[in-house]
Amino acid sequence: MSGRFKGRSLSVINDLTVDEQLFLYEKTRELKEAFRAGESLDRFRLNNREASFYLLFLEDSTRTKESFRNAAAFHGGRVNLFDSAASSFNKMESITDTVKMLVGYAPSSTFIIRSRLEGLTSFLDAALGEYCSHRMIPKPVFINAGDGKHEHPTQELLDEFSFLEQKNWDRSSIHLAIVGDLFHGRTVHSKVNGLKIFQSVKVDLIAPRELMMPDHYIEEMKQNGFEVRIFSSIDDYLAQSDIACIWYFTRLQLERMGDEVLEKADSLRKAVTFRREFMPLLKPETRFYHPLPRHKEHPTIPTFLDNTDLNGWDLQSINGYFTRIIEIGLLNGLYDDEAETLLPPISEKVPVTSSFVKEMPVRTQTKTSEYKVGIKPVENGIVIDHISCGSSIEGIWSNIDRIRKVLNLNVRSSHGVYHRNDPAYFKGIISLPDILSFSQKDVKKLAAISPGCTINFIKDSRVYRKLRLDMPPRVYGFSEISCKNEACISHSSHHEPVMTEFLQSGENTFKCRYCEKPFHFDEIWDL
Ligand code: CP
Repeated sequence: MSGRFKGRSLSVINDLTVDEQLFLYEKTRELKEAFRAGESLDRFRLNNREASFYLLFLEDSTRTKESFRNAAAFHGGRVNLFDSAASSFNKMESITDTVKMLVGYAPSSTFIIRSRLEGLTSFLDAALGEYCSHRMIPKPVFINAGDGKHEHPTQELLDEFSFLEQKNWDRSSIHLAIVGDLFHGRTVHSKVNGLKIFQSVKVDLIAPRELMMPDHYIEEMKQNGFEVRIFSSIDDYLAQSDIACIWYFTRLQLERMGDEVLEKADSLRKAVTFRREFMPLLKPETRFYHPLPRHKEHPTIPTFLDNTDLNGWDLQSINGYFTRIIEIGLLNGLYDDEAETLLPPISEKVPVTSSFVKEMPVRTQTKTSEYKVGIKPVENGIVIDHISCGSSIEGIWSNIDRIRKVLNLNVRSSHGVYHRNDPAYFKGIISLPDILSFSQKDVKKLAAISPGCTINFIKDSRVYRKLRLDMPPRVYGFSEISCKNEACISHSSHHEPVMTEFLQSGENTFKCRYCEKPFHFDEIWDL
């Protein structure tokens, strides 16, 4: 693999930097202009007869599947529609095994995959990369065509391209109203980062509480510098005067919600469905967009708007064909020469430094009388101090219990909850007189269970070494951790050979490498 784009996969919108996304939009613009002018489109084609494209749609699709099928046909090569209904999935074959086998039949392949399993293409990209390198065959390109309620990056690329067209390529600012099922809508989740192509972003989220975007996405938008406003219905939104000119509607996915929500279906739908009486409140340049499909009985954009100037969604869906032609060309290296000179270097996805263990100064006169097993001072051994500093007493006890189980501290020892310097604050301590050292793996586990704790090494009643532990940037391969998102490809219920992996994503949070769901550090443990 060489070049800027060749062989890369697209699992989430952040897999492309902002500059790379802009490059893709520029190429799509050139393609559309050449198409409209009736010019030759050959410079946009791969023209590689060995190239093969596998469309694995394990969930229903019309637009994404058909636009990719036609975009792949545009490039030449073989286009394979994988029939999942008649495949060995029905004999409990794993997706990993299936894709390994298909790669053997079709080297130099691009897999376009839709699945309810979140993080599937991220996982396949890593797993098949290793598999192919051992067998000296080229690693396939994986494109996420929608994974559960996680992301839909190629929809995002066509959405942003459509907004840019509407704004006549002005990227200085965007004011966007997002309406509908923001809880389940993967296309709106991809907007959290896809909108970064604009210099100033104002987002109005319009949904009742039950359908509102999960907090972590809202928080991420704020961290990205977006102004975010929240409204519970279109009525509430239009009762104020600062109304966006670009509206992005989504379908309600009530079928994914429990009975309690279904009982409220009519009022939830009403809150996010546009009505004729709202029309005078819109500015003349307003456009509506929708990833489609619309619900034929209860569309959030009613059909009486189809032949009005508000209709931005039909051209938006056609843009799916053009953006996907460019995406396939891009990831197969068609523009690598051009990109080499145009774009800055690729940034590392995972921090490689691991400075989560810090040596602390040791007071020369430190005596260990503060560290006891019961009433007896520790003469030789280890004391884990500052466990869950400042947490509730109950939280500290439960973390002490977790540390003991995860590190298998089934030895002569003691533990307790104590005041810190301030009587209002507490901390946990575990004293281990029979343990003289920890393995690197145990130190990392401890850092991930109880960031902020210290390990005190004691010899002849003196602390001779003190380490402070922070959250590790990356935690993986421990049998005691798992992603709790049942839709995640790494969840044990799916029986795929995925090693659990978390990346630090905040002061106290890890996110799953695959589904990207964030968890407080104490939620990743199974004990
Ligand atoms: N927008 C979109 O993903 O549509 P399909 O489900 O028809 O692919």
